[in-house]
Amino acid sequence: MAKDMRTFIDQVVRDRPGEILVVDEEVDPKFGITGIASKLASQNRFPAVLCRKVRGSRLPVIINLTASYERLALALGTTMASMVPDYANRPSAKIPPKIVERSKAAVKEIILKGNEARMSVLPVPTHNEFDAGPYITGDTLICKDPDSGALNVGMYRIQVQKEQQLGVWMWDTHHGAHIRRKYEELGREMEVAIAIGHHPAYVMAAVSTLPGIGGELEEAGALLGEPLEVVPAETVDLPVPARAEIVIEGKIPPGERAFEGPFAEWPGTYVAEGDKPFINVTAITMRRDAIYYDVFSSNREHTVLGSLPRMGVIYRTIKQYVPGVKNVNIPSHGRMYCYISIKKETEMDVKRAAMAALNVEPFNLKTVVVVDDDIDVFNDAEVLWAIGTRCYMERDLTLLPRLAGPGGLNPVGYEFHPDGTKTPVMISALIVDATKPAPPIPYPPRARVPQEVLDRIDLDKMLKEFKGFER
Ligand SMILES: Cc1cc2nc3c(=O)[nH]c(=O)nc-3n(C[C@H](O)[C@H](O)[C@H](O)COP(=O)(O)O)c2cc1C
Repeated sequence: MAKDMRTFIDQVVRDRPGEILVVDEEVDPKFGITGIASKLASQNRFPAVLCRKVRGSRLPVIINLTASYERLALALGTTMASMVPDYANRPSAKIPPKIVERSKAAVKEIILKGNEARMSVLPVPTHNEFDAGPYITGDTLICKDPDSGALNVGMYRIQVQKEQQLGVWMWDTHHGAHIRRKYEELGREMEVAIAIGHHPAYVMAAVSTLPGIGGELEEAGALLGEPLEVVPAETVDLPVPARAEIVIEGKIPPGERAFEGPFAEWPGTYVAEGDKPFINVTAITMRRDAIYYDVFSSNREHTVLGSLPRMGVIYRTIKQYVPGVKNVNIPSHGRMYCYISIKKETEMDVKRAAMAALNVEPFNLKTVVVVDDDIDVFNDAEVLWAIGTRCYMERDLTLLPRLAGPGGLNPVGYEFHPDGTKTPVMISALIVDATKPAPPIPYPPRARVPQEVLDRIDLDKMLKEFKGFER
């Protein structure tokens, strides 16, 4: 069977037992679903949560499905330790989508058009206290470049403004925004199709920063390891993922705006409200038993889903300059940080690696720590140990003033004034060199038990629980 969100859920149940929890009592889509995920987060727990009964809709909601690197690695058929190099290397073999018959497309089991296509059918959550209202966060929006006909896919926050009107915010430099401006200049409506709920490999392809417009459907094939099944939409001239849970179709009228936001973004703060384009909904199609997929914006899920595709691009970019790059981690709990491990050959390698990362992610990264290849970048304790024992603070910290901006999503992209106004400012970044000197300079070795001894120890066989002294 072709891969989709359900095959992935089955895989998680099988391979990572206990990572999907179920709520049977009714929950409110307004703060109720994110409330559960938020309380779990405060205990440092990030399981997926399936809410079976959501007030006002017959559809269940799953949140946090993509909130851990371990689960995203599983989706790519790899491990956390090798997911970044794997991600970086895989898309070299792109796989085009495959068109399937409408009768075989699960997403066409229910088709609502015209006045029937109303947003109240869907259990769209309201995530945080000051959000402007319900937001669709687990979407992939498909559109077509009017010049080349190339299909582009991206994940953008989508506000439910009215029963048949959705606000959409596309960051100026993203291809989606570039395409929208073209339609606006032509004075033409822009057709869009929004897919909700699919295999995380497809979702990650939509989030990938690919060179040029389009390519995400082929990247999805590469990440899935099989072609993405697509089927024509009902009311717009676009293909949609045949195995999605839900698809919303619509058109963005040129030159029209509606107030969008505020909405809590990945730094955990509210930003970027203002007049934005909107979508007039023309159809909703879905599975008969559709599951609504929600990404907990402003929380760990937002960071994790947004970061793995970027880590792949960062790794690929560093590799061009520092062939000894071993791994890259944007920690799941802090998207402003990036840890890079390298086999250092020259003193220049550290800055070249860090600059490459900052070049890929100038708005999001504020601190880049470069460590040696014996440090596990997915273990904060090891990174902190390297900073403590290999970093000469007076010479190994490099501040790059005013690197990105002005503005952005992070509040440090602004100066705030007593009258409530704000001025966009440039964002600075810090490089921390926590590597030993390059060879041949000797440096004290790290204390450890010999590897051959560790290899002989089988903890599960050797250790038993101590039940107290026998008297
Ligand atoms: C959870 C999540 C939410 C996102 N929200 C937005 C958004 O509201 N607007 C935006 O422009 N990009 C957003 N992004 C990032 C884009 O999806 C991503 O950069 C994508 O590559 C843009 O594609 P494009 O350049 O083809 O438009 C989000 C990413 C994630 C993971």
